[in-house]
Amino acid sequence: MPLKKICCIGAGYVGGPTCTVIAQKCPEVTITVVDLSQERIDQWNSDNLPIFEPGLDDIVKECRGRNLFFSTEVDKGIKEAELIFICVNTPTKNYGLGKGRAADLKYIESAARRIAEVANNSKIVVEKSTVPVKAAESITAILKANTKPNVKYQVLSNPEFLAEGTAVKDLMFPDRVLIGGEQTPEGQEAIQSLCWIYKHWVTEERIITMNTWSSELSKLAANAFLAQRISSINAMSAICEMTGADVNEVAHAVGTDSRIGNKFLQASVGFGGSCFQKDVLNMVYLCECLNLPEVAEYWQQVIKINEYQRRRFADRIIESLFNTVTNKKIAILGFAFKKDTGDTRESSAIHVGRYLMDEGANLRIYDPKVSRQQITRDLTDSEDPNKVRDLVTICDDPYQAALGTHALVVCTEWDEFKTLEYDRIYKSMLKPAFVFDGRLILDHEKLMSLGFQVITIGKRLQRPNVHRPYATAKGVQS
Ligand code: NAI
Repeated sequence: MPLKKICCIGAGYVGGPTCTVIAQKCPEVTITVVDLSQERIDQWNSDNLPIFEPGLDDIVKECRGRNLFFSTEVDKGIKEAELIFICVNTPTKNYGLGKGRAADLKYIESAARRIAEVANNSKIVVEKSTVPVKAAESITAILKANTKPNVKYQVLSNPEFLAEGTAVKDLMFPDRVLIGGEQTPEGQEAIQSLCWIYKHWVTEERIITMNTWSSELSKLAANAFLAQRISSINAMSAICEMTGADVNEVAHAVGTDSRIGNKFLQASVGFGGSCFQKDVLNMVYLCECLNLPEVAEYWQQVIKINEYQRRRFADRIIESLFNTVTNKKIAILGFAFKKDTGDTRESSAIHVGRYLMDEGANLRIYDPKVSRQQITRDLTDSEDPNKVRDLVTICDDPYQAALGTHALVVCTEWDEFKTLEYDRIYKSMLKPAFVFDGRLILDHEKLMSLGFQVITIGKRLQRPNVHRPYATAKGVQS
């Protein structure tokens, strides 16, 4: 049962931190994280890791070169390992059948084919990437169709529940570890081998074992429930703005019900990140394939509300700025999809930024952890690069970003934004100076006392000096 060598295919946001924590907790096990990207591996082997996660640098330094290795030698890693984690990306398909909804499993398939090609002894293959239900069956089919004599495979599902920004903490103290496998003696033995790893630091009652399909679906279900909670509170925020209720007060009142709980009830400009949208869409596609159109529609609505919230926020900025932002300078504070990460995948800032650029606004963007190159890449993804060059300035600090602008727009809840010198910022802005708090993190009373016009989500702070403050709600005037 004890394992000596593990390989992880995919050195990304999941593979890197997960294997780093396993290496620290299981010093007798050697772990090699392999990736096709030389650049990523070089970064993992440098002082400048490819991802920012609080607490990660120290553990990498402690384990790297001892029992943790990062390499591009994929075949060697596979050959030597008894257990292989597949942690490759599973983005939404942007072509062909299921385009825009289904998960693209080409990276999973190519990892499985590589294992089948080079393995010369038996392996436990662990699917850690988030996949549609029954993906383990496809991996098994590929492995079994290419089996060599004396090579046997067991495929397990072990979805990862870490959240970016708190990955190390989540890995060290998981709510639960989920392991799915075949209900056969061989399947159960493989499950026990993976349990052995986690038992180094996770108590037995937190390690849940189940059948493979339940495990795969549980991951999609968990992300769908989390995204649904955000869309639910964001839907409430729209009602609050129309009625004079305060979304924070409503969230508090609702969250104190122990059946509901108080987490994930923060209204905002919408959820981002590489997982929620992708996994909910994946669920929608699955339901459509299973001929469950009502269920598909139910989950699709979670995405619709998220898109509506971003659009609604951008519309309020435009309306508040006297119905035009053309040639107006607007500071965007925060570009990452949430605080404590440099990840921008599906960040709401990208969408809000694009809406404002479509109206001809000049954006001055600041984020403490996202590089200039990344911001430019994200905005040019679907925009003319010349337009981005003309309209976007990337700033090194928030004061520079705010200089000479009409408005500040908070898109990411970075702690540092709470304690900026807002009196200094106010003086450097054009008047009336607006703050749009898309994360509900600022001290609104204080900002208003400094002279700012403050507009936030789910709460009417003051009657802003605008013509149609709630014009997005058809036919209803405040
Ligand atoms: P990522 O894009 O950061 O990393 C994936 C890595 O796999 C890339 O470095 C890529 O070069 C590598 N790769 C792809 N195909 C390969 C191959 N055939 N051989 C070797 N390397 C290969 O992705 P991330 O964020 O780590 O996500 C991985 C999976 O984990 C996804 O399915 C995602 O849904 C899931 N997940 C992600 C979480 C997150 O917070 N990012 C949390 C929980 C699950």
